[in-house]
Amino acid sequence: MNSEPKIPQHIAIIMDGNGRWAENRHRPRVFGHIRGSARIKPIVKEANRLGVKALTLFAFSTENWNRPDTELQVLWKLLKKFLDREIENLDRENVRLRIFGEVERLRPDLQELIRRSEARLAKNTGLQLGFAVSYGSRAEILRATQLFTQDCLAGKRQSSDLCDELFQEYLWTSGLKSLGNVDLVIRTSGEKRISNFLLWQAAYAEFVFLDLMWPDFDPKHLRSAIEDFQSRDRRYGGVVSAASWAKVPAQIVSRV
Ligand code: FPP
Repeated sequence: MNSEPKIPQHIAIIMDGNGRWAENRHRPRVFGHIRGSARIKPIVKEANRLGVKALTLFAFSTENWNRPDTELQVLWKLLKKFLDREIENLDRENVRLRIFGEVERLRPDLQELIRRSEARLAKNTGLQLGFAVSYGSRAEILRATQLFTQDCLAGKRQSSDLCDELFQEYLWTSGLKSLGNVDLVIRTSGEKRISNFLLWQAAYAEFVFLDLMWPDFDPKHLRSAIEDFQSRDRRYGGVVSAASWAKVPAQIVSRV
């Protein structure tokens, strides 16, 4: 039997605490976003090196639109800078890119850059890097339901076709195919919430909540979160193994 600990195939990270990280240093909140965006590259590299197949980062929620305009401008600039500067490197590392959410709400030039960046990396076969941008999981599920209903009304589907695998094809993460399920969700900043992130995809995920702010997160924290994941007992509502079920004597079963 192979006892090598399993690397989670799909890791999703809620990169939280940028603002508090900056405020703790008496700096403007955007300083935390600048530091936070610099943490992405080493984490992508480490995830790829470890053999993680998909890494999805929560970059901007639908609620984040309520932030001051200057903060929003900085966040979009950072996304643009990341794509401009890292595309070559991501290509060399065989990374694929998906940016999903209400992308149509972004400035047209940023939408165009996103399309070009995704197309440039589309042939790659390594880590699937995803950014959830203007993303909300309930909106994603409602949209998927609308699309499925439209297909039913157009006669392309029947309501009885619906199952987990088919519904997944209507979600923003559909491009991930069999990697659609998240294995491990990591959230920094000490908050212990899912905040409308990948509710469908993380149905059976393990959660690791860390008491450090995203700008302090580095590859060793990623490795220790993975070790924590490896120590968990994932049963998906079943038992550990058929062998442990077999340990229950038949007479007990018949007496219940
Ligand atoms: C949460 O911190 C973080 C965000 C809302 C944005 C995350 C964005 C980045 C890490 C940089 C963006 C760059 C790219 C390349 C996508 P918060 O501001 O909510 O912190 P707080 O909870 O301490 O206020």
